[in-house]
Amino acid sequence: MLVTGLEILKKARAEGYGVGAFNVNNMEFLQAVLEAAEEARSPVMVALSEGAMKYGGRALTLLAVELAKEARVPVAVHLDHGSSYESVLKALRAGFTSVMIDKSHEDFATNVRETRRVVEAAHAVGVTVEAELGRLAGIEEHVAVDEKDALLTNPEEAKRFMEETGADYLAVAIGTSHGAYKGKGRPFIDHPRLERIAALVPAPLVLHGASAVPPELVERFRAAGGEIGEATGIHPEDIKKAIALGIAKINTDTDLRLAFTALIRETLNKAPKEFDPRKYLGPAREAVKEVVKSRMELFGSVGKA
Ligand code: G3H
Ligand code: 13P
Ligand code: ZN
Repeated sequence: MLVTGLEILKKARAEGYGVGAFNVNNMEFLQAVLEAAEEARSPVMVALSEGAMKYGGRALTLLAVELAKEARVPVAVHLDHGSSYESVLKALRAGFTSVMIDKSHEDFATNVRETRRVVEAAHAVGVTVEAELGRLAGIEEHVAVDEKDALLTNPEEAKRFMEETGADYLAVAIGTSHGAYKGKGRPFIDHPRLERIAALVPAPLVLHGASAVPPELVERFRAAGGEIGEATGIHPEDIKKAIALGIAKINTDTDLRLAFTALIRETLNKAPKEFDPRKYLGPAREAVKEVVKSRMELFGSVGKA
């Protein structure tokens, strides 16, 4: 069933588990995410970035919303990193039940003003809103305290931001970053900062850039001819700890892309004469589904729907 993001996330924060927001760009990703959620009896958020909306167009948004309605578990269809009021309106018109407005690169007052505007529009049509405060940047452990403070989410500001904007859930910057290169070794995550934010902000908190970039997946991608540097992701134990401290929504894109592409490469390498897309998109879709399921297990959302 299609529900708002807040309905899913409020329960998750109250009960201490996390819900995955998985980025989709095409039908195969969408099917993989929804099938995994149904098989795991897990609530889920299907995330479409502006790039995904542009690439998939009406075909993808229509499919996402309609399949979410038919799903046997709670599903929110979410706009990821909405950059403008106009972009949010497009998602609302397409029937999304959750939108993110990301003005985190603006100064505090502008971020508040622009977020507030989106909250008014979204709430008027019963849709809930994610906002972001702080910069998503990989932080090396040895970085000076004042440098960390300048980038990462300030707990007191977070409290004020949520009160002034009326946003429903908040993306925090605690050291994670997007993509396959999140810092050397085991990337630094500022759990004490998260604890301070969570003590002041009762709303569900969101972790972007949370992919694990599993070494075995990186190796598989490489072995199949893919080129990738020293890829690193967020350690599963660091995710668990973050959920225990108040993270309710965990975004994953990179792990799914890696799995999908590794399987396409492997399949085509093994069968160079193959040109039926179903023969290589099918196994790739299965691989995405397996990653989604294992993320749901890690987040503790299995059996919660
Ligand atoms: O945070 C960004 C997501 O990974 C989506 O990426 O803008 O390339 O679709 P994208
Ligand atoms: P990853 O690149 O770590 O998968 O993060 C995705 C994300 O935060 C989407 O908003
Ligand atoms: Zn993100």
